[in-house]
Amino acid sequence: MTPDKPSPVILPDAQTVTEVEHYTNSLFRFRLTRPASMRFRSGEFVMIGLLDDPHPETGKQKPLLRAYSIASPAWDETLQFYSIKVDNGPLTSKLQHIKVGDQLILKQKSVGTLVHDALTPADRIWFFSTGTGIAPFASLLREPETYERFNQVVLTHTCRDVADLKFGKELIADTKSDILVGEEAQHKLLYYPTTTRETSAKMGRITTALEDGSLFKNFKITNFNATNDRAMVCGSMGLNTDMKRILENYGLREGSNADPGDYVIEKAFVG
Ligand code: A2P
Repeated sequence: MTPDKPSPVILPDAQTVTEVEHYTNSLFRFRLTRPASMRFRSGEFVMIGLLDDPHPETGKQKPLLRAYSIASPAWDETLQFYSIKVDNGPLTSKLQHIKVGDQLILKQKSVGTLVHDALTPADRIWFFSTGTGIAPFASLLREPETYERFNQVVLTHTCRDVADLKFGKELIADTKSDILVGEEAQHKLLYYPTTTRETSAKMGRITTALEDGSLFKNFKITNFNATNDRAMVCGSMGLNTDMKRILENYGLREGSNADPGDYVIEKAFVG
């Protein structure tokens, strides 16, 4: 006879947490084991999550899933994610408490527009991000194809406070010492971090630095043009709308997986 004991909750598509690092009260990153069969393109996102609290009457638990950009390259053995923490957020109020060894739900199907296949060839690629919108670029910056396709790679990251930039600063350092892309990144990669609320070396929204030209002056690089430049955008709704206008004023045309163009915006991104 089997002794009476509560049956363990079996998570569908379960993966194990292998690393957790908290940056601020509202930002953290974590890594999950990667299913051996999982394939994705650097820059894509997947659905991940947890089981919701048991229903008060039925005791049933429903999966609580959200779209998360994979913040590690397609060749990496584990999957990294970068997340906000919202105390009353349905998923992140729980997700922020995960520990190494816990299990999360990961749906393997990956999709997204921030992929090399959606852009036509050019000389320079720009990755424009705000907040956790830097996540897909943490994948693309460590992707060898980025340096094979472009002679210059510029990452811009705008956050409210200096502490919010730490993930990006570490990403740049890790990319420049990366065994696969480090050497190329050392001479091709430019990084432009800015803050909008706390004082730092470079202040203000990236949209302002683009429109007043200070971004180009700062690096002593040529201005934008539709022949040389390609762009990917990931961040707040406001950033998406403003960047679309700015890039189109420069003459860039929006691309997609089906019809590659000059720039792409991740509309599914959840800050
Ligand atoms: P700001 O402080 O001026 O709003 P959030 O934390 O609200 O998601 O914002 C993250 C960063 O994105 C902040 O630094 C914010 O600047 C900036 N931001 C918000 N909207 C835009 C926009 N339309 N264009 C450029 N940057 C933006």
